[in-house]
Amino acid sequence: MRTLVIGTGGREHALVLSLSRDPHVTEVHVAPGNPGMEMVATRHDVDPLDGDAVAALASSVGAELVVIGPEAPLVAGVADAVRAAGIACFGPSAAAAHLEGSKAFAKQVMAAAEVPTALAHVCETPEEVADALDAFGPTYVVKDDALAAGKGVVVSDDRQEALDHAAACGRVVIEEFLDGPEVSLFAITDGSTVLPLQPAQDFKRALDDDAGPNTGGMGAYTPLPWAPDDLVADVTRRVLVPTVDEMARRGTPFQGLLYAGLALTRRGVKVVEFNARFGDPETQALLALLDTPLSSLLHGAATGVLADVGLPAWKDASAVTVVIASENYPGTPRTGDVIDGIEVADAIEHVDVIHAGTARDAEGRLVTAGGRVLSVTATGSTLAEARQRAYESVDYIHIRGSHHRTDIALAASGEGE
Ligand code: AMP
Ligand code: GLY
Repeated sequence: MRTLVIGTGGREHALVLSLSRDPHVTEVHVAPGNPGMEMVATRHDVDPLDGDAVAALASSVGAELVVIGPEAPLVAGVADAVRAAGIACFGPSAAAAHLEGSKAFAKQVMAAAEVPTALAHVCETPEEVADALDAFGPTYVVKDDALAAGKGVVVSDDRQEALDHAAACGRVVIEEFLDGPEVSLFAITDGSTVLPLQPAQDFKRALDDDAGPNTGGMGAYTPLPWAPDDLVADVTRRVLVPTVDEMARRGTPFQGLLYAGLALTRRGVKVVEFNARFGDPETQALLALLDTPLSSLLHGAATGVLADVGLPAWKDASAVTVVIASENYPGTPRTGDVIDGIEVADAIEHVDVIHAGTARDAEGRLVTAGGRVLSVTATGSTLAEARQRAYESVDYIHIRGSHHRTDIALAASGEGE
């Protein structure tokens, strides 16, 4: 199978790596891609938001499967354009990607499908915002209604900070605060069959001990030794299947990856957010353990035959991903810094140094080109072993001013107590 992956980040590098190791895949193309992918894929230039250009590229390379990584092209209808050209595409239509594109729409779908989630008010004016904040009380949760690359949410006890964030956003969703550990549970679906992946956990805050601002994600691990045994079955039954069914009922079937961000509250599992694509960096950890060929899942979803593919199989191991971020991320990151030590770091057994925000400068040196620069992913027989390998690798990498969390998977590994 000839494949084309759209995107530039760590998630896309992980997808490309997994496809390049897949026995059913003969060619991996990527656009625009990043330098880390060049060893295993052919890079092409394309505007990822231009559906006609992506479809034309897919035709020209003879792609039999296009995989769209990020949310922005999905919301812009790039999957629709690829499918209209008669090419199988993994990723929801623009109408279905609205589940991620508008938090208010996601709330409507959840209400209709009776999916448990935080109570919420959609607010447009400062008065509505103030009323909603006071109705729920602290801790305040204010979300930009539109896409904001993981940075549109403020969770704070400071009422003024909540008011200021709302004022900066326009339309916002104000929610009740959900207490309890967070879990990312992904499902691959063709619009009717729903195949859950194993749960992962993401570290959203910039600093150790969950301090600092929200980010796109500073690390991840899987599986979750502490999670209840029935978590996947419970979320599949109460969240994933009803949501997929509701989208089909509306005439906008969801085909691709449904990402449920969950809080395990004292009153049961509740949805924090939906995304319409693989999570970053959870995907890096998950794909390191996936035993089923990725292409069969993605192609099965794209062509509506997922029922024949069956539940994915997983390696009996653990995976940990540590993100190395540029100075000042998640603010405006500094870019153009030289990245040293990556060859040694990548040569460690059971480690992949996955690129996210990297580029080559005029002299051909590898430099930083974004907020999240690398996601170092390691596997091991235990979380502790995977952690030890990931951090050994991280220690070899030098980027001026960069930062990473030191506590990814620490508590879950049993070493943090
Ligand atoms: P979102 O973009 O909706 O995933 O929000 C980003 C992060 O903000 C989540 O991963 C949570 O850590 C936090 N968050 C969002 N909504 C809530 C909520 N209702 N209660 C507590 N934390 C939340
Ligand atoms: N890891 C969070 C996200 O992908 O949205």
